Amino acid sequence: MDLEKLKSIAKADVQGKRVLVRADLNVPVKDGAVSDATRLERLLPGLKDLSGRGARVVVISHFGRPKEGPDPGLSLAPVAKELGRLLGKPVTFVVECVGAPAESAVEALKPGEIAVLENLRFHKGEEKNDPEFAGKLARCGDIYVNDAFSAAHRAHASTEGLAHLLPAYAGPLMLEEIGALRAVLEEPQRPTAALVGGAKVSTKIPVLKHLIEKVDKLIIGGGMANTFLLSHGVDVGKSLVEREYVATAHQVMAAAKERNCAVVLPVDAVIAREFRKGEAHAVVPTLAVPSDAMILDVGPKSIAHMTQVLRECKTLLWNGPLGAFEIEPFGEGTFALAREAARLTREGKLTTVAGGGDTVAALNAAGAADDFTYVSTAGGAFLEWLEGRELPGVAALAQAQA
Ligand code: 3PG
Ligand code: MG
Repeated sequence: MDLEKLKSIAKADVQGKRVLVRADLNVPVKDGAVSDATRLERLLPGLKDLSGRGARVVVISHFGRPKEGPDPGLSLAPVAKELGRLLGKPVTFVVECVGAPAESAVEALKPGEIAVLENLRFHKGEEKNDPEFAGKLARCGDIYVNDAFSAAHRAHASTEGLAHLLPAYAGPLMLEEIGALRAVLEEPQRPTAALVGGAKVSTKIPVLKHLIEKVDKLIIGGGMANTFLLSHGVDVGKSLVEREYVATAHQVMAAAKERNCAVVLPVDAVIAREFRKGEAHAVVPTLAVPSDAMILDVGPKSIAHMTQVLRECKTLLWNGPLGAFEIEPFGEGTFALAREAARLTREGKLTTVAGGGDTVAALNAAGAADDFTYVSTAGGAFLEWLEGRELPGVAALAQAQA
């Protein structure tokens, strides 16, 4: 895949054209209201630009994972409403994404107007990347723009198929996300560090294997660090651990050594007997975890060591929390490191890129997200990129004709 072949929509002539924008409107909704609008906010500049240049903007997206056909609980209507509020202009919501109702609603759009079509996954053809369904979508546009990096790991009709049917361009958010990841992984200022946390090692093995080839230091925290500790013969008590991955942890350590990538593991831990709020807790060296206790966060010595590593680096990639940050006081490790990374970024000493899964919630809880150089809107797609995999949605754009 040649990323230089991605064509930006920024300079294309869109005046009066129906521009089909694949966005990721898959945002958290509670009681009919959007509870975190980050993904919508990040789409606004691109949508405003298209509208301002006289495009007839048709936004398409999936929402949730409907099982069998239309599911009223997974309608994009409330999301379209919130998008309109954020844009500060009315957005037409269309109750179908293909067929006569969609086509005539799109036809009625005037230059500068924006419509949102109903959840693509109400049709089986979307996830199957069915050419017939992609063809129906293509009838709603003259130009295709993919601005949904966070859905680009899916080879679906709207993320892959469509790129081959219409003149295809990358949207600004897509380019920004890819640019941030390339800046960290391809041409970073060295030394570089990756901080990888989260509960399970099993879900992050390809990420770790790829990262040790790319970064100088790998900081491992969260539940997944326990499996690494166990692989060193450390008794982790009743901590979350994946015994069947001890051999894999060994392999990762050996491969890291071969590549001169220094792996930084916790040396002390915050432990408790149970994982619940208000539970009595203590700090112990990782070599002295009682058999009836569990590790729920990294301890102060680990924080000091990891902080030192950040200070010695110029680039940091962050994925996953260092402890069970959702419950007090087990967020201290994550918060301390996130705040230090934020401070170093503010002072221009560190480039910080974060994304994937729980990461954004953890950085928000630390109050650090705004200071990071870049925080990705992507979960699974971010991780697949970190694995070194080609994302079908990006590959299709790189192959496509504009
Ligand atoms: C996400 O939220 O990670 C993307 O929107 C993709 O959603 P999916 O995992 O249901 O394909
Ligand atoms: Mg996902």
